[in-house]
Amino acid sequence: MSRAQLIEMARHNLAHAKAGTIEQEPEVMRVPVSNYFDPDRWRLEIDRVFKRMPLMLALTCEMSGPGDYRALEAVGMPVLLVRGGDGEVRAFVNMCSHRGSQIVREGTGNAKRFPCPYHAWTYDQLGDLVSVYASEDFGEIDKSCNGLTKLPVIERAGLIWVVLNPASTLDLEAFLSDYDQILAHFGFEHWHLFERRTIAGPNWKIAYDGYMDLYHLPILHRESFGAQMPNQALYYPWGPHQRVSSPDPSLAEMEDLPEEEWSEAHLMSGVWTIFPHVSIASFDGGGGRSVMISQLFPGESPGESITVQNYVMENEPDEEQAAAATEQFTLLEYVVREEDYATGLRQQKALRTGAKSHVMFGRNEGGGHRFHRWLDKLLEADDDQLNELFLHGERWGR
Ligand code: FES
Ligand SMILES: [Fe+2]
Repeated sequence: MSRAQLIEMARHNLAHAKAGTIEQEPEVMRVPVSNYFDPDRWRLEIDRVFKRMPLMLALTCEMSGPGDYRALEAVGMPVLLVRGGDGEVRAFVNMCSHRGSQIVREGTGNAKRFPCPYHAWTYDQLGDLVSVYASEDFGEIDKSCNGLTKLPVIERAGLIWVVLNPASTLDLEAFLSDYDQILAHFGFEHWHLFERRTIAGPNWKIAYDGYMDLYHLPILHRESFGAQMPNQALYYPWGPHQRVSSPDPSLAEMEDLPEEEWSEAHLMSGVWTIFPHVSIASFDGGGGRSVMISQLFPGESPGESITVQNYVMENEPDEEQAAAATEQFTLLEYVVREEDYATGLRQQKALRTGAKSHVMFGRNEGGGHRFHRWLDKLLEADDDQLNELFLHGERWGR
């Protein structure tokens, strides 16, 4: 069904490309400038969005075998992801039950057991506490209730999402809104993580607004890559997640072919955002497709964010392709750091002056409209309203 949707989106796109049209929002949207710097609002965003929504924290391809693990910190929480002998990924708070030491250092590896570096209490791949050092001296405790604290996790489309709240009752499938079925067409579980870099940036929403914005491409990026880029966008929502495509006249190449022959790479082109913090930008690299998967996290204050850029390649590159990929990654990092985020940092200074009460999203910037509407709804919603919100969210083609 999702390939049929891809074809349908391509036909929809091509019709707009031929007509020279886009779908406009009914009105220009105004967003209060304080949304970008008010500390109370920012705290609420952390608590009600980043600590309640599943965050895409790792790629299947970086921990695909039994015993593969990755330890990382996300929004201040130390997380340990482990793939068990049964092939399932589990997520835990990376914290020892004894006195709270972090058990695994940040990074990846493969292990059957996870001994705490402080006093050697040891956990297995299921997070169960399997041994207590000098247990006769320590005293009686029930090992079966002192395992690692589990976090909700879901692995779909070669991506791994975690909720940073052990008590969450969120329906993860409802949150995904079938978007994972469309993303699965990339086949990321068979791709390769080529390199990962980290960039500091402005308020997370200033950064995220930019990922859905094609309007700026030929202007802000005219000297790097954007001079010939279209400034128009078509948005395809699955709940809060949105695909962003420019009207693409080259889709006409496939129009007269039987649908089975339409190229999957062409059907999957453009930018795929995953609410609230991921953008997947796809492009053709030498020797196959590549994507830049950017994970955006709020920083220590409203005016700071951290972006992890993952350069992921469909095929393992040979030496020449690896050199070309490094060059391309360096350009993309430059564009985001020196063009998008440098502009964003100056923009947030201006927002704080009090000179204007609102910023605007045009009728052509539907991605921003939808993002800010979802954010407002989620900040207001109680935990028990969340599942309903996602189950009834707008989905393209439904
Ligand atoms: S804190 Fe982990 S064994 Fe003591
Ligand atoms: Fe940009």
